Order: sequence, then C-alpha cells, then structure tokens
Amino acid sequence: MVNIAVFVSGYGSNLSAIIQAVNDGLIRANIALVVSDNKEAYALKRARDAGIKHMAVEPVNYASKAEFEKAVLQALVREKVGLVVLAGFMRILSAEFVSAYRNKILNVHPSLLPAFKGEDAIRRAFDYGVKVSGVTVHFVDEKMDHGPVISQKQVIISDGEALESFEKRIHAIEHELYPEAIALCVEGRLKIEGRKVTAV
Ligand code: GRF
Repeated sequence: MVNIAVFVSGYGSNLSAIIQAVNDGLIRANIALVVSDNKEAYALKRARDAGIKHMAVEPVNYASKAEFEKAVLQALVREKVGLVVLAGFMRILSAEFVSAYRNKILNVHPSLLPAFKGEDAIRRAFDYGVKVSGVTVHFVDEKMDHGPVISQKQVIISDGEALESFEKRIHAIEHELYPEAIALCVEGRLKIEGRKVTAV
C-alpha cells in the first residue's frame, strides 16, 4: 500500500475529506504523515484526532528554503512516502523538491485552472464576476498551479449568490474531487502524456 504524506497550512477540511476517504476504503493507501508549515494550523489537530503522525516544519526555523525542504524530504524518506498530497499548503515547492517526487505530488486548487492561479482564488473569481468557476486537481510541477490537470469540475455561480455560498459549494466539490483523484493515483490508474492525463 502506498504511503501518503498530506501537506497542510491551515484549516484542513481537505485533509479531513482525505482521511474519511481512506477510512471508507475509497483511497487504498495509508496516510503516513501530515506535514504543516505552520504549527498553529487547525489541520494538525485534525491529524492528531485521527491518530495520524504529524509534524510542524516551520521555515523560520531553517536557514534557507533548501534547508527547510531538506528537513521535509528527510521526514518523507523516513516514513517511506510514495505520494505527496498538497491540501491547502501555502508554499511553492522548489524544482529540486518537485524532481525528487516527479509526478508524485498532487494539488487541489479552487478554480478552473489556468484561471485564477494563486492565493484567494475563490474570492478573486467571484469578484471578477465569472459565471462559471470550479475546482482543479493537478500534478505539481515547478510552476505554481501549473502541472498536468487530472480532473476539473465546474461550479455555476447563480445571479445574486453570496460569496459565502459560492465558497461553500467550491469546498464541497473539492472534498469529492480530490479524494477521487488520489484514489486513481494510488491505484496507478493515471496515465500522463505531456500535459494530458487520462484515467485508465
Ligand atoms: C482549499 O480551497 C484549497 O483548494 C486551497 O486552499 C484551501 C484549503 O482548505 N489550496 P483546507 O485547509 O483544506 O480546508
């Protein structure tokens, strides 16, 4: 069974959806480690409550980004991690880190990429006045919110809808789409050819 590490920075609702999917047998993998770059992240409490090994690795405690990533990579090697799942992890991984886990890092982003890359995507899409947004799950490469797309699902914004309602619907879709993509990935069912990913 594949050992997964989930990287978090904040609230951890996606982490909980992933834990649930593992417990339900939808994702046939073991969550070996939760890594947070913020020791105050609520996600760490979720990991603790679920009995999952977790650690805070804070960049301020390291001399450089390279040293920080080295500490994280050491933890991954220690736990024999085969797949890294970013779940609200607010940090860009270096090219070196990405190449150590080439095609073995996934991310969820709350927009239909390549629209609204980066932070605060839900609110920016809403403020822009788009009629359709959604969720993207993708492989991580060297560029932010850029790697090959695994799955996307649209969310239509209705006239007069409040941001809070739109946000809620985006998160609900994330909590379905991400576990499904992780499940395919751990089963070795994602074929990548250039930017094209197909489920086989
Ligand atoms: C999610 O919307 C995710 O797509 C984005 O950050 C948010 C994290 O939420 N990258 P949570 O910490 O999983 O609740």
